[in-house]
Amino acid sequence: MKQSFIVTIDGPSGAGKGTLSQLLAQELGANLLDSGALYRLVALHSFQQGIAITDVASLSECARSLPVQFRHSEAGISILLNDEDVSLAIRDEAVGMRASKVAALPEVRQALLLRQRQFAESGPLVADGRDMGTTIFPEADWKFFLTASAEARAHRRFKQLQDRGEEVDINRLIADIKIRDDQDQNRASSPLRPAKDAILIDSTSLGIEEVLASMLDYIQQKQ
Ligand code: DC
Repeated sequence: MKQSFIVTIDGPSGAGKGTLSQLLAQELGANLLDSGALYRLVALHSFQQGIAITDVASLSECARSLPVQFRHSEAGISILLNDEDVSLAIRDEAVGMRASKVAALPEVRQALLLRQRQFAESGPLVADGRDMGTTIFPEADWKFFLTASAEARAHRRFKQLQDRGEEVDINRLIADIKIRDDQDQNRASSPLRPAKDAILIDSTSLGIEEVLASMLDYIQQKQ
């Protein structure tokens, strides 16, 4: 495999991008960029600092100077914000909703652009998000766009939250997913959409293993 190949996986919330990116990175021996985690970190950090969602200058400064570290261990990757492990805190539904608002600001996207591209400097990369194949890595070697119906995505999320012992209302989850889809697809700056050369995969009725196998097939075919 040639040096520093890049695989991008874009798609809406809950389509399974996170799990698939991890599995694909393991299979390919690649590094991982979870770009959504960066927007979630800006959302959490700015909230902790009391920055209003309308204060664009402070939000973009927060994105530029994010005190984040990714700590790799056998158990996976822990995300530290100011030395505090926030790996779970950033997955909160409220943080995701704020992240979607923060991510609509071009100034914040610009502030995170270089940080994201730097992930490709230390070797092969699997990058997941909304604009990996369109804006951040337009020259990526393989681009996937992973979708699933809003209902299927909400049910997967419901199960994850239930397994964590959290009480959730499925109708609320479906409504929230639709709001985030709308925000992510209809913003002016790097909206969620497939790159022209992306391979579209609808995972509504597919399991993770099936999607992983078909991604690996595509990659092997094109190698
Ligand atoms: O993938 P996620 O749910 O962790 O992402 C959280 C939010 O961040 C999502 O609603 C939209 C935004 N996001 C983005 O705009 N661009 C990316 N590349 C990744 C995430």
